[in-house]
Amino acid sequence: MTYELNDPMADYDLGLPGEVHVAPSADQLYDDLGLVFTSHGLEADRDRGVFHVALSGGTTPWPFYQRLLIDTRFRKVPWERMHIWVVDERRVPDDDDLSNFKSLRESLIEDIPIPPRHVHPMMVMHDKPAELYEAELRAECGSGDDVPRMDFVLLGMGTDCHTASLFPNSDAIHVTDRLVVVNDGPNVTPPPRVTMTYPLLNAARHLAVLCVGSKKTEALRRVAEQMASGPDPVNVPITGIQPSDGVLTWYLDREAAGKSDL
Ligand code: 6PG
Repeated sequence: MTYELNDPMADYDLGLPGEVHVAPSADQLYDDLGLVFTSHGLEADRDRGVFHVALSGGTTPWPFYQRLLIDTRFRKVPWERMHIWVVDERRVPDDDDLSNFKSLRESLIEDIPIPPRHVHPMMVMHDKPAELYEAELRAECGSGDDVPRMDFVLLGMGTDCHTASLFPNSDAIHVTDRLVVVNDGPNVTPPPRVTMTYPLLNAARHLAVLCVGSKKTEALRRVAEQMASGPDPVNVPITGIQPSDGVLTWYLDREAAGKSDL
């Protein structure tokens, strides 16, 4: 089953790389993204019998995760065959309020029929959290030496245009030979992070960037401006998101898109 979005503002041209979906309100945006998520889940389940999803933290996606739970239209998500990975994590204990996984567990995971062994938090307090996570990804989702392919990755974007924990001018930006790394140093907003890298993110089948509210408008303009002359991951990290054989779609409400008059 494929869900079609019926929104006149879909595919709005803002100069962003990939496809752009603009919804008239945040509420509508979460609905639209929920339908797309469900559709990708059904397709992955039908084609491969498994749905690998990598989810972000930050503040934006929580209403979306809760919507997935309460809206009956999303009952078809193949929860039992879904694997949940985290895009990035702060190096704090998993009961700390800064932990993305804690919020994910409380807003979504606790209430869906997902087998516990399909839930993959990052072991951030371990000595080698990145190596552990990379090995787990390769074991559960990989095939030989190929980079594992997530079916659906949900990203956010900071006002400095970082995505995941790939901050401007930080070490993780330059990594090409690892799937997951620790990112720390003067250009990383504390605490230290563990993050998926470009090679892993860019191997995904579908990457969705969710931006809500006028505080993201300027950053989106910056991305569009940068893309006019080409990607610059070091200074505008989200421009390093360039799927090798997948689709990148921006999901924006009209405030974020800077089209509040529409
Ligand atoms: C995180 C992220 C990060 C986030 C952006 C946007 O864990 O903080 O993965 O990349 O998506 O910083 O954050 P907001 O949604 O809070 O604006």
